[in-house]
Amino acid sequence: MAATLTLDRQRLVMIGGKGGVGKTTTAAAIALRYASQGHRTLILSSDPAPSLSDIFETPLKDTPTPVPGIPGLSGMEISSREVLKRWKERFGPEIYEVVSSFAKVDYDFVEYIGTAPGIEEEYMLNYIMEQVQSGAYDRVVWDTAPAGHTLRLLQLPGVFLDHLEAATKFYMNLYSTFDKLKASVKLQGGKRTLLEIIAGWRELSRQVINFIRDPENVANLLVTIPEALGVRQTERIVRELEENGLSVHAMVVNYVIANADCDFHRRRQAMQRRYWKILKERYGRKIPLIATPLSAEEIKGVAQIRRFGEILFMNGSVW
Ligand SMILES: Nc1ncnc2c1ncn2[C@@H]1O[C@H](COP(=O)(O)OP(=O)(O)OP(=O)(O)O)[C@@H](O)[C@H]1O
Ligand SMILES: [Mg+2]
Repeated sequence: MAATLTLDRQRLVMIGGKGGVGKTTTAAAIALRYASQGHRTLILSSDPAPSLSDIFETPLKDTPTPVPGIPGLSGMEISSREVLKRWKERFGPEIYEVVSSFAKVDYDFVEYIGTAPGIEEEYMLNYIMEQVQSGAYDRVVWDTAPAGHTLRLLQLPGVFLDHLEAATKFYMNLYSTFDKLKASVKLQGGKRTLLEIIAGWRELSRQVINFIRDPENVANLLVTIPEALGVRQTERIVRELEENGLSVHAMVVNYVIANADCDFHRRRQAMQRRYWKILKERYGRKIPLIATPLSAEEIKGVAQIRRFGEILFMNGSVW
């Protein structure tokens, strides 16, 4: 029986896959469907080259903005720069206060910490979790950047804390009283010690990772294509997701030739079916695979996205 997409309870849907396979199209179709079911929905893109604004034909900003003409749907495109800015606003003063309490540093130190690997990734996840837990939306659909970037998102959180800790220890060691300081330095006027503050940041990091890993909260969707490259990259992404404790909820196999009526398309379809079979054998027992057809036109604008959504959710896999 052909598979269909079921996304009933998860409040966050993450859409990943390699470049150009139809991630944004899939994300938009899911968001439109949620909104039409009466869910308060936020679609957000963290792609450095986002295209949600094009699809919805409205300029989206780095804060949630209602999409005109679609009740219940807001959209936003968030850049790394904005994520870092928010991180600095939230943690900058605390970091500065901690470090300047035992070392002579100026506020640029916060900028330096901001360049640590993993900060942007950590905070992106944190920001998205906050959106889901804010109560402002019933559903959040996250159109992630092409694969490599998304995997970085999952691998790096926590790295920045190591970096911060190392930098802090370095400064403390300059004063060669690390052990004493570590336990006793308190924020000016504050009650927490340095160790407690760093432990608090670690706890935040742990919460974000646990949240992202919980299939009750998060549905992880992979979009791919029935070609050698698609199969190879899917293997890699699934493996890396699993290594990071994430499972795949469903796989969308896009651009399939549903009706071949000439030699060119018959050959292409035969090629695609070989790779479809490989994907089906490898993953079909565990997760639904939904084949979505290549349409003659690019899928642009709300009406066409809705049609794509009908295939995903109602008609189901065309193969
Ligand atoms: N099934 C389809 N049939 C025809 N055109 C499609 C189909 N799916 C997507 N497209 C078109 O292919 C292009 C790429 O799709 P989309 O932007 O959704 O991919 P993406 O994975 O988000 O790409 P990127 O990695 O660059 O963000 C778009 O112009 C879209 O309209
Ligand atoms: Mg995209």
